[in-house]
Amino acid sequence: MFYPQEVIDQVIESNNIVEVIGTYVNLTKKGSTYFGLCPFHNEKTGSFSVTDNGDRQMYYCFGCHKGGNVLTFVMQYENCSYIDALKTLADRAGISLPQPDFSREESIKAKKREAVLEVNKEAAKYFYHLLKSDRGKTAYAYLKNRGLSDETITSFGLGYSDKYRDDLYKYLKAKGFDDEVLRESGLFRIRETDAQDYFWNRVMFPIMDTRNKVIAFGGRVMGTGEPKYLNSPESICFNKRNTLYGLHVAKKNKGGELILCEGYMDVVSLHQAGFTNAVASLGTALTDGHAAILKRYTSNVVISYDSDTAGKDAALRAIPKLRAAGLSVKVVNMKPYKDPDELIKAKGADYYRECLKNAQNSLIFEIYCLAEGFHLDDPDEKTKFYNEVANKLSYFTDSMEQDNYIQAVSKEFNIDYSMLREKARRLTLGNNNIKPIVPREQMPKKTAEKSDALSMCMKMLLAYMAKEPSFYDNVSKIISESDFLLSPYDIISRILFEQLREGRLQPGNIINALEEPESQELVAEIFNYGLFDRMEESDLERTVNDCVIRIKRNSIEYQLSSETDLSRIIALKREQERLQKFNVFGRNN
Ligand code: CTP
Ligand code: MN
Repeated sequence: MFYPQEVIDQVIESNNIVEVIGTYVNLTKKGSTYFGLCPFHNEKTGSFSVTDNGDRQMYYCFGCHKGGNVLTFVMQYENCSYIDALKTLADRAGISLPQPDFSREESIKAKKREAVLEVNKEAAKYFYHLLKSDRGKTAYAYLKNRGLSDETITSFGLGYSDKYRDDLYKYLKAKGFDDEVLRESGLFRIRETDAQDYFWNRVMFPIMDTRNKVIAFGGRVMGTGEPKYLNSPESICFNKRNTLYGLHVAKKNKGGELILCEGYMDVVSLHQAGFTNAVASLGTALTDGHAAILKRYTSNVVISYDSDTAGKDAALRAIPKLRAAGLSVKVVNMKPYKDPDELIKAKGADYYRECLKNAQNSLIFEIYCLAEGFHLDDPDEKTKFYNEVANKLSYFTDSMEQDNYIQAVSKEFNIDYSMLREKARRLTLGNNNIKPIVPREQMPKKTAEKSDALSMCMKMLLAYMAKEPSFYDNVSKIISESDFLLSPYDIISRILFEQLREGRLQPGNIINALEEPESQELVAEIFNYGLFDRMEESDLERTVNDCVIRIKRNSIEYQLSSETDLSRIIALKREQERLQKFNVFGRNN
């Protein structure tokens, strides 16, 4: 961060959140809270709330769960950087910011990045020009033959890299770019004696970031040849793990669902057919970074990966990541067509729209895939399958949601509802369901699913503590901030506990301490947790107690896994026993 914390605090304090947001959104006061139509998703009734009482200055949308403080609002609304938002708000309050202390290194890096972006832009323009010239005739015919219109070619800036192996290099050298920046761009192999283009004789797909800057390219051979696609190497501007092709357009579908597919041509074809909400992770498996970015723009993702086994496996790997990012996920069935591009070519847009409508809930999809591994006409295998299904259904902490899923699954797979419910509930309440979760860096991939349930517990408990600050006395008897082993709950709990001890809740400061937008939104959600209002008192207490026990149990098990001191082990075991009968509200079980 380039500005001192006091300056940032001053800027935030000098901008009343209701006044600032009021200039963008029509707000109406209801009680102590203001409501309006959410600017981050489409809605007809106002679920977007803004609170300005005392230190609790923040906004939160009950519909799309976006939330944060005045600074994150400007960032999200204007789609600008932290620094730009800070400047806007400082201007507004008449505060003059000190010279940012950009380190030398940072400023060199920023200059390099700008220079590489400039190379990419010139290259993209040149490829486009070639495609439309005589030299690009074959490439142009190739794209036309794949059904792309001139309009699509232009809007995606598709192009052609010529068949001479230093064509682009010569062109950019003549424009005055020097070798160092050309090398940095990844578009060339520059050696002592000669230089070669990385891409030649391919149709070119420029890859854009969300600010419409060309950050890299993908190039496809025309016809057959290996590799079919070639992508720019990683560079100062391009990180594959955080890039989604097509997002610069798809992000304009504010809040609506996003379609996630595999490749360039899928995105281009889908957009041409009117599905401008399609994006692709390019040739890499979906990463947590991708999931977090998707969550910034939507709450609903529809996976439309290839119909083959590889596509199915990729979907099975993507689902938990997307879910962990808080997305609700569906899966499109395109059989017998291979991918969206082929389907649309064969059947047209309306057919695909129908497929989207019939997209399967991701949990049902997972269970169908699970079923393929069992011979269901064998009674033993069937029992095993049912147990697996119940196990899958046991990781819900919201019992209403769980019940809805149990109903849906029992219907879809013709499993007796009461039996399935009983099995799932028993597993949910069973002591061994949630295995210990270790801090994120040490977490094996397999535990991701369990961490879903645990993170839900942490969210709920923190939300309850934010709502009922006096509850801190009860909680602190059993749990401390160090028991929150999952990120970012570790940071959130540390500051929240501190604020509770000091008797002064300031969600804005917690938001500020977090860098990731997803974490900032999580804080806003914690402070605006609606579920409790809809729960019966006794259910509420049971749920909160359950959360306390799970978090503590996990923490103890984690400590036990590395403890070697016998007396500590015994103490932890005692604590574990005590937990079985523990009631944080002081009731007798
Ligand atoms: N991909 C890649 N390198 C390869 C093959 C594929 O980076 N050698 C990436 C590309 O982003 C491609 C995506 O994986 O778009 C999906 O690959 P594939 O299904 O093989 O290609 P299609 O999208 O069907 O491409 P096309 O329709 O042009 O054959
Ligand atoms: Mn294809």
